[in-house]
Amino acid sequence: MENSLKEEAKRLQEELTGHSFRYHVLDDPVIADSEYDRLLARLVEIETQNPELSYPDSPTKRVGAPPLDAFESAAHSIPMLSLDNAFGDDDVQSFHERNIKNLDFDKIFYTAEPKLDGVAVELTYENGMLTRATTRGDGIAGEVITENVRTIKSIPLRLMETSDAVPAFLEVRGEIIITHQDFERLNKTRLGKGEAVFANPRNAAAGSLRQLDSRVTATRPLTIFVYGVGMVRGIAFETQGQLLGKLKDFGFPVNKYIQAGISIKEVLKFYNKLSRIRADLDYEIDGMVIKVDRIDMQQALGEKIKSPRWAIAYKFAAVQETSTILDIIVQVGRTGTLTPVALLEPTNVGGVIVSRATLHNADEIKRKDIRVGDRALITRAGDVIPKVVKIIESERRGNELPFEMPDRCPVCNSKVRRLEDETAIKCINVACQAQLSERIKHFVSKKGFDMDGLGKKIVDQLVNEGMISSFADLFTLDRERLAKLDRQAEKSIANLVKAIEGSKQISFPRFLFALGIDHTGENAARLLARQFDTLENLMAADKKNLENIHGMGEKTAASVVRFFTNQENEIIIRKILEAGVKIENDLFAMQIPSNHPFSAKTLVLTGTLETQNRSEAKKRLEALGAKVTSSVSAKTDFLVAGRDAGSKLAKAQNLGITILNEVEFNQMMED
Ligand code: IVH
Repeated sequence: MENSLKEEAKRLQEELTGHSFRYHVLDDPVIADSEYDRLLARLVEIETQNPELSYPDSPTKRVGAPPLDAFESAAHSIPMLSLDNAFGDDDVQSFHERNIKNLDFDKIFYTAEPKLDGVAVELTYENGMLTRATTRGDGIAGEVITENVRTIKSIPLRLMETSDAVPAFLEVRGEIIITHQDFERLNKTRLGKGEAVFANPRNAAAGSLRQLDSRVTATRPLTIFVYGVGMVRGIAFETQGQLLGKLKDFGFPVNKYIQAGISIKEVLKFYNKLSRIRADLDYEIDGMVIKVDRIDMQQALGEKIKSPRWAIAYKFAAVQETSTILDIIVQVGRTGTLTPVALLEPTNVGGVIVSRATLHNADEIKRKDIRVGDRALITRAGDVIPKVVKIIESERRGNELPFEMPDRCPVCNSKVRRLEDETAIKCINVACQAQLSERIKHFVSKKGFDMDGLGKKIVDQLVNEGMISSFADLFTLDRERLAKLDRQAEKSIANLVKAIEGSKQISFPRFLFALGIDHTGENAARLLARQFDTLENLMAADKKNLENIHGMGEKTAASVVRFFTNQENEIIIRKILEAGVKIENDLFAMQIPSNHPFSAKTLVLTGTLETQNRSEAKKRLEALGAKVTSSVSAKTDFLVAGRDAGSKLAKAQNLGITILNEVEFNQMMED
C-alpha cells in the first residue's frame, strides 16, 4: 500500500508538472482544465495524508505559503547590470564598431531580443531544484521572493531533463510580466471588488511580487520570459543563442521573437520589425536588446561598473501626441528658480492624461520657439515626465503669442536676475513667499539653528497663516502667538519656545549654513567661517577674496557675494542679530570635519567625470581632509571611476578596493 501510494504520488506529480508546462509555457494543453483540477485534488489528498510524499517541486506547492514578516535581502553572486541605451541606428553602428576595435576582429554576430518591460528576477537552481528567487534590487543585492515565485506556474520548480547533465548550480535571469489580456481581467476583478486598479502591467507585476503573503501572489496572473544567466556551475554555453535554447530545454519560457547569430545589418532590420509588431503583442516591450552572441567575446569585452560592454538597449521612440499650449505660467521653486510651465489641453499620452509640461527655462522656450496657442508634439520623457518635443509650425495661424520670462518674481514682485554662466532666472529675494517655507525649514534644521520641535507641518502653518514672513520673525514667536496654531499642546509650545530661545547662541558655520545660500552647504560654510572669522569680514569680501580660498568653487564664491550684496538679505541679517542671535566663532566647529566618509581617506580619480572636472573634485576632497593620489595601491581607500576608466579600475578591482561611480561619489560628497 505504502509503495503504491508513493508511486501514485510520483506519477501524479510528473503528469501534472508536464500538463502545467504544456499549458503555461507551450500554450498547448492536451487535457481539459477540469481534468487537471481533478488530478491535482487527488495529489493534494495524498500529500495531506502523507506529508513525506510532498516534495518541494510538487505542483501542489504553487499555492503560496504562510506570510512573511519582511523580505530578506541577498547579494547577487554576479551583479545584475543595466544596459546602455542606443538612441538611433548610428549608436548601434558605433556599438558594433567599438566591439570590432576592442576585439580586433570584424566577424561579430549578435542576438537581438525584445526588451521586456516587467520586473527583473534571478532564479537559483541547485542540482536542478529551484532553491531561491530574488528581485534585481539595486543590481548588487535584491529581495528574496522565493515563495512568491514558486506560485508562478510557468517557472519550473525543477529543471526538466535534457541531454546535458543537470547543472550543479544555475542562476537564471528573466523578466516577470503580466500580459495585457490578464491585466485587463485583473483590473476588472479588482474594480468589481472595490479595490484600486493598477496603472499598468509592470506596476501590477511589481506589486504582486512584493506581497509578503505568497497566497496573494498565487492569485495574480504572473508569467516570465528568461533571457540570461548569472553564476553557473556544471554547464557551459558557447553563444547567447545556444544559452537561450538550453534554457528553453530546461522548461523555461523564452520569447519567440528572438534572432540569434545575426549580422549588425540584420539587427537593424529586426528592430524595424519589432517596432511594427510591438502594438500587436500581448505584453509590453519597450525596445530591443542587442547582445554579442559569442560568450567568449562577451567575456573579452567585459563590463563597466553599471553596464556590460557587450550589450546595448535600443529603445523604441516614446509615444508622441499632439496638444495645444493653452498658457505658459511661471513657478518659483525653493531656491528661487523661475520655471516656465506649459499648460496643455489635457491629452492622453500612452495611457496617462497630460495637462502640463515643464519648459525648463527661457533658453529652451527660445530654442524651440514655443508660443502660447501653438499646437505641439508632446511625449513623456523616460515614459514618465511630460515634455514638449516641438511645436508644429505648419499649424500656426499667426495669432500665437511669444512668451517672455517676467523680469519680476510672479510671487513677491522683486526683480529677478539671470545669473552668469547659468541658464536659470532667479528670484534672489530671500523673503519671497514661494521660497520662504522651504528656506525656513532649512534655517531651523538640525545643521542650522537646530530648533527642535519646529517640524515641517508647523513651519508650513506658520507661513500660511502669515505668522512669519522672514527668518527674523522666528525669534519673535512666543507662547501667546504659538498658541494660535492648530492642535498644539501646552507642553510642546513650551518646548518650542525653549528651543527657539536656546538656538540664539550659534556657531558661525551653522549660521552661514542656515542662511541657505546657493551652493553653500556645510563644508563651504565651514571654509568661509574659518577664512573670515566674523560676519562683518565675510560681508565685506569680494569674489576674488573668496575664490582664493583653497577648496572653494567658483559658483559658491559668486553666489556668496551675490547673497551678501542683496540689500533685502542685509536687512534680514540685521533683524536676526537684533532679535538677540549671537554668533560665536566656535573654532572647534571649524576644524576639518572628521566624520565625513572621505576625511583622512586616500582616493584615486580616474576616467572622465561628467559633472565636474578632476581638479575641482580634488580641491573639494582636500577641503574635507582627504588625500588624492594618482596611482592605485593597497593604501587606496576609494577609486572613483568615471567614463571609460581603464587600467586603474582593473587594478583597483583586483585589489578589492571600493569602487565608486560618479553618482555614488557625488552622493557621498553630499553626506
Ligand atoms: S539582458 C547585462 N535581456 O532590461 C545584461 N535584459 O536595462 C542585462 N530586460 O534589468 C540584462 N528584457 O530587466 C536583458 N531581453 C533582455 C531584457 C532585459 C528586459 C531588462 C532587465 C534589465 C534591464 C537592463
